[in-house]
Amino acid sequence: MSARSLEEGRARGKTVLVLHGPNLNLLGRREPDVYGAITLQEVDDRLRALATELGVRVEIVQSNAEGELVDRIQAAAGSASAIVMNPAAYTHTSIAIRDAILAVGLPVVEVHLSNIHAREEFRHRSLVSDVAVGQISGFGVDSYLLGLRAAVHVIADARRRTLKTRRPQKARRPA
Ligand code: DQA
Repeated sequence: MSARSLEEGRARGKTVLVLHGPNLNLLGRREPDVYGAITLQEVDDRLRALATELGVRVEIVQSNAEGELVDRIQAAAGSASAIVMNPAAYTHTSIAIRDAILAVGLPVVEVHLSNIHAREEFRHRSLVSDVAVGQISGFGVDSYLLGLRAAVHVIADARRRTLKTRRPQKARRPA
């Protein structure tokens, strides 16, 4: 088994919550020059196929409502091991989403279809990125797929660290 699949194996059976923020339900019709022709259904199908390949479960939710996204982040504390989130426009405005991420303490991978740093100045600031494990921006649907892979690695790594600390320490030989 390669080191990579061993790593992924440690996340097997775990759940990753994927959250899509406002207006992403319109993908395919919405500003196709920026976001491409792919629909949200196609993004979700690609995510589900990759999840099967990696041996993890995905729960996928889209909402246009900030409070609903906050509720989902809170609920994930008991049901998911990591979150992949495209907060969409709330990226740039939502202290509530940022606070929810801090409150639950789950690892979050922030993703964006477009490169937010190459767009209007108001999109350069993310209220989420410094409380996320990392940000993937500008790769279209691949941002989500890379985000899911990153989440799996973060889960596996956390598990590796837990296993290490649980393993009984060998008795030290006297010097
Ligand atoms: C987006 C970028 C945001 O600035 C914008 O408000 C979106 C989508 C992206 O995926 O590129 O709705 O998050």
